[in-house]
Amino acid sequence: MIFVTGGAGYIGSHTCLELLTAGQEVVVFDSFCNSHRESLRRVEELTGKPIILVEGDIRDQPAIENALRTYKCSAVIHFAGLKAVGESVEQPLAYYDNNVIGTHRLLAAMASCGLRRLVFSSSATVYGEPQHLPLTEDHPLSATNPYGRSKLIIEEMLHDLYRSDPTWQIAILRYFNPVGAHSSGRIGEDPQGIPNNLMPFVAQVAIGRREQLMIWGNDYPTPDGTGMRDYIHVVDLARGHLKALECLDRPQCFTTNLGTGIGYSVLDVVKSFEQASGRSIPYQLAPRRPGDVASCYSDPSKAKQYLNWAAEKDLLTMCVDAWRWQTQNPNGYQTE
Ligand code: NAD
Ligand code: WQD
Repeated sequence: MIFVTGGAGYIGSHTCLELLTAGQEVVVFDSFCNSHRESLRRVEELTGKPIILVEGDIRDQPAIENALRTYKCSAVIHFAGLKAVGESVEQPLAYYDNNVIGTHRLLAAMASCGLRRLVFSSSATVYGEPQHLPLTEDHPLSATNPYGRSKLIIEEMLHDLYRSDPTWQIAILRYFNPVGAHSSGRIGEDPQGIPNNLMPFVAQVAIGRREQLMIWGNDYPTPDGTGMRDYIHVVDLARGHLKALECLDRPQCFTTNLGTGIGYSVLDVVKSFEQASGRSIPYQLAPRRPGDVASCYSDPSKAKQYLNWAAEKDLLTMCVDAWRWQTQNPNGYQTE
């Protein structure tokens, strides 16, 4: 039984689907502060398998302990947390509370139940301003905002925990830019309000929910001047978690990137999305967004060697799948 915190969210729901498809049983622990029950209902519908749902907050240690014991969980995949960079600058305490204190409580609950197998959602944001590209796992770490700092603190907490008790089995996965949706069009990313991230914003422009895209900066030192990122299909990313779990058959604490290794510019994404949707994406060039880096892409070789995992889906597939989700669910999970 795999205990999935934040399993109703964007990456969590896709991972639950892959877990169930692979024959695993799943308990989702989620407060629904940034998701809907409907995502899990659809995962059950797609797989024909049930999900055990426990509604709760990861800061509630007794509730976690109770669920871990009741369902005899053998591993935890920990997605739950807040993830909006701008919001973290405005509400840092909410981020330290949810992400850092929440993870502390989860770890304490695990320790008290004798469960020491964990896959943790970290982020490429922990590399800060890239000193070299592609980003290898040994690149120096730094944070430029409270969200990133919460991920860095958690990574350090996990290393300290492993040093204190080397029987822990911990995988730290640094995601690059997850995009796209399941090919069924039934589950996908459902941002509340104005999307912070490029792909959902572009999708909403394509469907006419927003007038135009603002491209933040065309004077970066990149081939076309717009920012470059390592976009990774969420289904590839979800499958990386299953590979990480497979590796956690012995005590260790390892860290790996999950990315494609390829950098695409904002204009590349716009062109690909136009091709995928058959719609034009009006855009306007605007000043750089504070805190953005010019380019960020992974060296994916450690994941290949260590997890025997590599991303398979290309940018056009990411856009086609994001577009299918957008057209079938113009208002996300609240469409029906
Ligand atoms: P999401 O917001 O869609 O999912 C997070 C889930 O956690 C939601 O279902 C939310 O309701 C739940 N949650 C939040 N706080 C909780 C709490 N205190 N108790 C219980 N449940 C809580 O986000 P996502 O995109 O699926 O991201 C999942 C994880 O991956 C996060 O930790 C995020 O920081 C990390 N990550 C995301 C990205 C990205 O771009 N999406 C990139 C790198 C890392
Ligand atoms: C991508 C590119 C923007 C929106 C963020 C977090 C990171 C991680 C993933 C969690 C950049 C440009 C965007 C728009 C634009 N999350 N852009 N117009 O900033 O790489 O990463 O999400 O861990 O921590 O920082 O992703 O999708 O916001 O931006 O021009 O309306 O698109 O400037 O070059 P980012 P993004």
